[in-house]
Amino acid sequence: MPQHEQPPITAAPRRAVVTGAAGFIGSHLAHALVQAGTTVIGVDRQDPSTDPTAVANLATLRGLPGYHHVTADLLHCAIDPLLIDADAVFHLAGIPGVRPSWGPQFGDYLASNVLATHRVLEACTRISVPRLVVASSSSVYGPTDGGASLEADRPKPASPYAVTKLAEEQLCLAYAERPIGPSVVALRYFTVYGPRQRADMFTHRALQAALTGQPLRLYGDGHQRRDFTYIDDVAAATIAAAVVPTAQGAINVGGGSNASLLDVINIATSLTGRDIQLHQDHARNGDVLLTRADPSRAREVLGWQPRIDLHRGLRAHMQALASQVPDYRRAA
Ligand code: NAD
Ligand code: UGA
Repeated sequence: MPQHEQPPITAAPRRAVVTGAAGFIGSHLAHALVQAGTTVIGVDRQDPSTDPTAVANLATLRGLPGYHHVTADLLHCAIDPLLIDADAVFHLAGIPGVRPSWGPQFGDYLASNVLATHRVLEACTRISVPRLVVASSSSVYGPTDGGASLEADRPKPASPYAVTKLAEEQLCLAYAERPIGPSVVALRYFTVYGPRQRADMFTHRALQAALTGQPLRLYGDGHQRRDFTYIDDVAAATIAAAVVPTAQGAINVGGGSNASLLDVINIATSLTGRDIQLHQDHARNGDVLLTRADPSRAREVLGWQPRIDLHRGLRAHMQALASQVPDYRRAA
């Protein structure tokens, strides 16, 4: 096995529920679990027979005998029957994205990220689910002094979205303190990229611009840095969080890339041989200048470290985008 690839996943739950399974990370996680032999119930409120994003995200899962999809809104549906016999619940459903959270959608953020999570926690407690893994976010740290963020650092969320993710994470950790609650691992994912990344995110847009020649809107000067994390690494860390018996609490999941947006633009340009036309725009409220994970806890507790570097990950991301659209294929 080449050193940069994740070792095959050898330990995975027997039965698991993945919420947000029609989304970017949830669909990859569900697929990795099924590949590892887990029977998965995927839950999402987007209907995979009508919603184009859900159709695309679930394409590789369709027809797999180990995968069962349920279209349901966690704010209203009966959750208990979905959890029976589950060894783990992976709670990834939520409204992501920093910038739109300042707008009128804040109620949706609050509802899906906090209130729906409360319903999931109550159901996990009633059904005695042993382990809940919840998708938290690097955004809970807020602005940093330039150093790597440690799980013990005091969170300073800088956007309404980040406030809901901190509330979600802390709610889960409070439930884990009760003798009857599930044990909880809250994974603080750092800017995840790779095939099927959400279309609002930077990496997708930069590669799309390089493939099509359409302009790329750059918020700020492009010197902001992210600990970009490749999707396969994220899936491996998330599965480890369900099966390591001693794992608990908040854990950073960062790709170790420490690259700027301009670095991503340069790699996208070199991969496609096309320049990107930039439209500079003002920096957005709540966008931090830097995210950087301290990787120690993930390594020590989960035995996990990132394997895919930014160049390799962006190449895989670009190839996936190029294979979807004929115009991209010609440009790639
Ligand atoms: P996504 O939007 O692609 O997936 C989220 C899914 O959750 C969607 O399919 C949506 O329909 C579903 N959902 C939302 N509310 C629901 C509800 N009430 N009931 C049922 N389904 C519901 O987002 P993503 O990028 O895959 O992110 C997944 C999770 O990871 C989110 O919780 C997000 O906050 C977190 N996260 C993502 C990143 C990232 O870089 N993508 C980084 C940190 C944390
Ligand atoms: C990402 C996810 O979108 C969040 O859901 C997640 O919680 C967060 O990672 C996390 O790490 O926790 P973000 O880092 O803002 O948030 O990732 P992008 O949306 O890809 O934006 C990265 C940077 O690119 C930001 O500075 C943004 O302003 C900039 N950007 C984005 C642009 O300049 N142009 C665009 O078209 C989009």
